[in-house]
Amino acid sequence: MSNHRRNQSLAERLAKKIPEAEWLVHVDRADGVEHQFALHDWDLWARPSQRPPQCSWRVWLLLAGRGFGKTRSGAEFVRARVEAGLAGRIALVAPTAADVRDVMIEGESGLLAVASEDCRPSYEPSKRRLTWPNGALALAFSADEPERLRGPQHDLAWCDELASWRYAAAWDNLLLGLRLGADPRAVVTTTPKPTRLVRDVLASPGTVVTRGSTFDNARNLAPAFLDSVVRRYRDTRLGRQELEAELLDDVPGALWSRDAIEAARVAAAPDLARIVVAIDPAASAGEGADETGIIVAGLAHDGQVYVLDDRSGRMSPRAWALKAVAAYKTFAADRIVAEVNNGGEMVESTLRSVESDAPFRALRASRGKAIRAEPVAALYEQGRVHHVGCFPALEDQLCAFTAPRTGSGVDRGASGASPDRLDALVWAVTDLMANRDAAILDYYRRLSEGR
Ligand SMILES: Nc1ncnc2c1ncn2[C@@H]1O[C@H](COP(=O)(O)OP(=O)(O)O)[C@@H](O)[C@H]1O
Ligand SMILES: [Mg+2]
Repeated sequence: MSNHRRNQSLAERLAKKIPEAEWLVHVDRADGVEHQFALHDWDLWARPSQRPPQCSWRVWLLLAGRGFGKTRSGAEFVRARVEAGLAGRIALVAPTAADVRDVMIEGESGLLAVASEDCRPSYEPSKRRLTWPNGALALAFSADEPERLRGPQHDLAWCDELASWRYAAAWDNLLLGLRLGADPRAVVTTTPKPTRLVRDVLASPGTVVTRGSTFDNARNLAPAFLDSVVRRYRDTRLGRQELEAELLDDVPGALWSRDAIEAARVAAAPDLARIVVAIDPAASAGEGADETGIIVAGLAHDGQVYVLDDRSGRMSPRAWALKAVAAYKTFAADRIVAEVNNGGEMVESTLRSVESDAPFRALRASRGKAIRAEPVAALYEQGRVHHVGCFPALEDQLCAFTAPRTGSGVDRGASGASPDRLDALVWAVTDLMANRDAAILDYYRRLSEGR
């Protein structure tokens, strides 16, 4: 069989034998129940790489590009196990609680969308629970809260976007509880990133891997979605990860290395002497605009830096101001700092409109991005900057960033997009280091005064 045909679903191969028009007319003519059946019959539509491997496995790792149909494959697998009476206690885990709800349960390829008429689960959002008519039960968990996974036992787990989980402990706790029934299993559907967790799951003996590319599912994707991901990633190094699901190694010449970040990673931060929220605002808002980088970091009394959170995203000015102020309050930060080259006074006034008296310092970049980044990358190499948990999107940017050739005028990372998370991180660490001695002195003064 040619490679291309091997990637096709039964429906697609049948369509080759029956002229497509006729086939579609047939599906369209079928009315009511039969039509629903034809559209929902996963046996007909699933491509081979979306089906569970035939050999025996404990963990099925589906590594594939964006839009490949990973979530759909996970949801269909859970549905099949439930309908066959093979799963009764299911754990659903995504990077955040909102992801479990919006993608795995209520999403366009989630469990409610793929359910069949006669075996439809009922969803109780407040209990984070799905119950099928045959008594099978699924509970929603967030990889942000690994402690909640300590204790409950399951016979099936579905984990979506494992590469974006903040804490590897969520996976460890999940596996400890995966011990109900004769044949407990976990299916993991994710775009890969070379995090230690992804590498560990890949290397584990019970894991069977299937792979796929965004393009395998092109005919089922909305043209606008396909266009935008392809435009963003095609012919970039990151595209090999985001579209083709390759596990990338370090970029030659990158300022940051995966190993250095991994070696310094911690699960929790110690008591901190000073905390800042750093913002690198996008020059414009809306679709296709750059992201606004928002990074929270703190300085410990021994001079080590802890990266506490990455709240970056594509946002309107008011939205990023609200987010930054919320982070400032949550972490009881000492100051908000922001790069103001792009927005001038606008940045400060936007912040002030949300929180009039937050301590704020405007930063102006007088030197190039790479020159600012180098000393920060050096601190990482020395093991003096620690990520509290995993920040996959930030870490992708750091590890893709190579110093642009002098005079090239290019101030963008290897992905072609502006590395806004990196910028915010560099500002945060720079500010912490610039005020290091004063902050540490102040910390000890407060300690001695019992405050
Ligand atoms: N084999 C298939 N046949 C038809 N539609 C599919 C198939 N696989 C996935 N889809 C649809 O393609 C879209 C993208 O799938 P999704 O699972 O959300 O992708 P991913 O999680 O990989 O980004 C969804 O609308 C999904 O229902
Ligand atoms: Mg998905």
